Amino acid sequence: MLKGKNIVVGITGGISAYKSAEIVSRLKKKGANVYCVMTQNAQEFISPLTLRTLSNNPVVTSMFEEPGTWEVEHISLADKADLFLIAPATANIIGKVAHGIADDFLSTTLMATRGKVLFAPAMNIHMYENKIVQENITRLKARGYDFIDPVIGNLACGYTGKGKMAEPEAIVARVCQELLEEQILAGHKILITAGPTKEKIDPVRYLTNHSSGKMGYALAEVAARKGAQVTLISGPTNLKCSPQVNLIKIESALDMFQAVQENLDQNEIVIMAAAVADYRPKIFSEKKIKKKDEDLKIVLERNPDILKYIGENKKDKILVGFAAETNDLKENATKKIIQKNLDFIVANDITQAGAGFAVDTNQVTLFFADGSYKALPLMDKYEVANKILTEVYALLKEKRSERND
Ligand code: CTP
Repeated sequence: MLKGKNIVVGITGGISAYKSAEIVSRLKKKGANVYCVMTQNAQEFISPLTLRTLSNNPVVTSMFEEPGTWEVEHISLADKADLFLIAPATANIIGKVAHGIADDFLSTTLMATRGKVLFAPAMNIHMYENKIVQENITRLKARGYDFIDPVIGNLACGYTGKGKMAEPEAIVARVCQELLEEQILAGHKILITAGPTKEKIDPVRYLTNHSSGKMGYALAEVAARKGAQVTLISGPTNLKCSPQVNLIKIESALDMFQAVQENLDQNEIVIMAAAVADYRPKIFSEKKIKKKDEDLKIVLERNPDILKYIGENKKDKILVGFAAETNDLKENATKKIIQKNLDFIVANDITQAGAGFAVDTNQVTLFFADGSYKALPLMDKYEVANKILTEVYALLKEKRSERND
């Protein structure tokens, strides 16, 4: 199942280090090549010999050890890793990576890896709940590192609570899930827009909307995981995306329009998830507008409809739009499919709880150009992204078979 996959397992100094033996053994049974890196402290809990025997590979235990006859001496583990798992991950290694500290073999290799990194934390409940640890975890997540949450259980320190490393079986299942995400979009180039736009009134004021960018960023991440080459054009947000995504940051609708035009030809799939402002102030005041007694009138002029422009220049691209509606969802969404020449539209009723702006979930209906539709239940934005991209893949397959007919 994991045949040919290179997995580096980093083991740090916690009592659950003994469970890394089972993890390594399970990964080996699934056919993976497993390379273990142990910190100094980890070696107090489990012997390198155990892991060497189970992984059938030399175990790295020190930064400066003599390379023996082992296979890894000439290659960088960082480059080799399809996935880097740190199990158990102590507060120390989490803190070090979160702050760019690389002072031993594990932290230096981790810092250099471009593959997927998964931490399986294990520590005392109060340590785990410590705000500093939680901030470090949040910081790492924002940089594209992933976590397998610890579970509730009896901890070695005598406490009961969340801090126990997830069971080896669950960790290995998650590793499989990460490595076996089908590369259905491999070789395809996709352009995604996300976030709000900012329309300046004067040097200190602007018009914008409530979009957080979460849906567009989720689409970009999931598309990259499915093997696509992703360009993400994003309005101002606080979100980060993984280094595989080519991120272009813009501010206004006009900036977004320009960036889209510059990138349109190279991409065969376009998903417009951005909440583009339909209007901008007609006049930008170079100086701060001073208050007066009378009402202030700001004249707004239309921004270009970027999606409509793409629809008019679509060629054989797959084009997906979004529609945020407060009423007549079906009618409004289908109208936009025709007006903007879309393959399908992701419509949500933003008055529904859990749907729309700034939340992690969304409840959408996909309306297709042929009149069919699929109503999806309330789900995480990453799952919504997965559904949307699966539909994109179905359309790609359809186009391919039409071409071959
Ligand atoms: N969109 C766009 N350019 C604009 C406005 C919207 O490309 N100036 C795109 C959005 O990214 C989204 C789709 O058009 O994919 C629908 O946007 P929405 O604001 O819901 O609809 P509008 O077409 O602007 O129509 P209305 O405001 O009348 O609902």
